[in-house]
Amino acid sequence: MFDQRGRPLRDLRISVTDRCNFRCNYCMPKEVFDKDYQYLPHKALLSFEEITRISKVFVSQGVQKIRLTGGEPLLRKDVEGLIEQLAALRTPDGEMLDLTLTTNGSLLARKAQSLKAAGLQRVTVSLDGLDDAVFRSMNDVDFPVADVLEGIEAAHAAGLGPIKINMVVKRSTNAHEILPMARHFRGTGMVLRFIEYMDVGHTNGWRMNEVLPSSEVIKLIQAELPLVPLEPSSPGETAQRWAYANAAGQPDPALGEIGVISSVTQAFCGDCNRARLSTEGKLFLCLFASGGHDLRTLIRSGGTDTELASAIGQIWQARSDNYSEVRGALPADKGTVMRRVEMSYIGG
Ligand code: GTP
Ligand code: 5AD
Ligand code: SF4
Ligand code: SF4
Repeated sequence: MFDQRGRPLRDLRISVTDRCNFRCNYCMPKEVFDKDYQYLPHKALLSFEEITRISKVFVSQGVQKIRLTGGEPLLRKDVEGLIEQLAALRTPDGEMLDLTLTTNGSLLARKAQSLKAAGLQRVTVSLDGLDDAVFRSMNDVDFPVADVLEGIEAAHAAGLGPIKINMVVKRSTNAHEILPMARHFRGTGMVLRFIEYMDVGHTNGWRMNEVLPSSEVIKLIQAELPLVPLEPSSPGETAQRWAYANAAGQPDPALGEIGVISSVTQAFCGDCNRARLSTEGKLFLCLFASGGHDLRTLIRSGGTDTELASAIGQIWQARSDNYSEVRGALPADKGTVMRRVEMSYIGG
């Protein structure tokens, strides 16, 4: 099944809650996500049974990877119960899914074992710096970095690897943490990825001069720790991969690799195979979409799996989104006119 640009559907990202215990200012700025902010009521959320049912149909339509996101997915009560159900799904070829989860790591020390036991394969942890003061100011709720590092260790010990570490880079806030982060994770088997700060949502006050282009990140690291480019490990991948080099200038497996995710300076829409399911069951075809397709109504009004599969097929086949490729050509006020959806609602 292909969309209007010939892209298959492979990756489903499911947001299981729109809430988070952090207030990263590039995602859920405190001024907007304050005590009066209206989160979704519980009955609006898809139940675990509904999520599993929809996922099963997506898998029959070609999805091979499922990522749980949020908000913070570990805040959803008994998320392990959902993971158990999803882990039992098989592709039409009888293969297991690549089942993963993106977390801020705050509850990981407590939950790593139970997540693994439920059938989660790996985790990606967001970590924007190692310096405690920088980290506390990035999460904006004074959360200590040591607790996240402990969570990462627990995930490692539980076998939730290969672990990826995602660092969103903002030029004025945490660019000086790039090298300490690279030194810290080099040779650990964990893959550190640097993400260009994006203009996602409409509340984070995004400005181009806060974006540090990935080319500069690579240059900075190269100057101290030699790198060599690697081929993509799968089509449609978000990250460009770089290996740490040995003295002969070859990739050194013992030192591992890093990645850069350059949605702003080098769009990767060309083979974007990702669909997103919001907490309340709307299907979004792009991170920057202003609207989604309501699947919840379809299933709550008695729609069959065949009807659901056919709806998903039609929606995907009509897709032509490529926001990051055309970003520069859009009128500057498009974000406010279109009211793009928030990342905490749609999932990273
Ligand atoms: P792996 O399978 O573990 O490599 O995951 P991934 O790179 O597909 O997913 P992850 O959620 O770790 O993505 C990392 C970050 O890349 C996200 O938090 C977003 O900032 C960004 N990102 C992911 N998917 C997209 C996308 O489709 N478009 C854009 N513009 N950015 C994306
Ligand atoms: N730019 C880039 N990445 C973002 N994320 C959230 N907001 C942004 C943004 N404005 C991503 C980060 C974080 C994940 C949960 O969502 O990668 O780790
Ligand atoms: Fe929460 Fe992740 Fe958004 Fe930070 S980036 S506010 S941890 S959902
Ligand atoms: Fe896919 Fe939209 Fe991101 Fe482009 S901007 S890679 S189409 S989600």
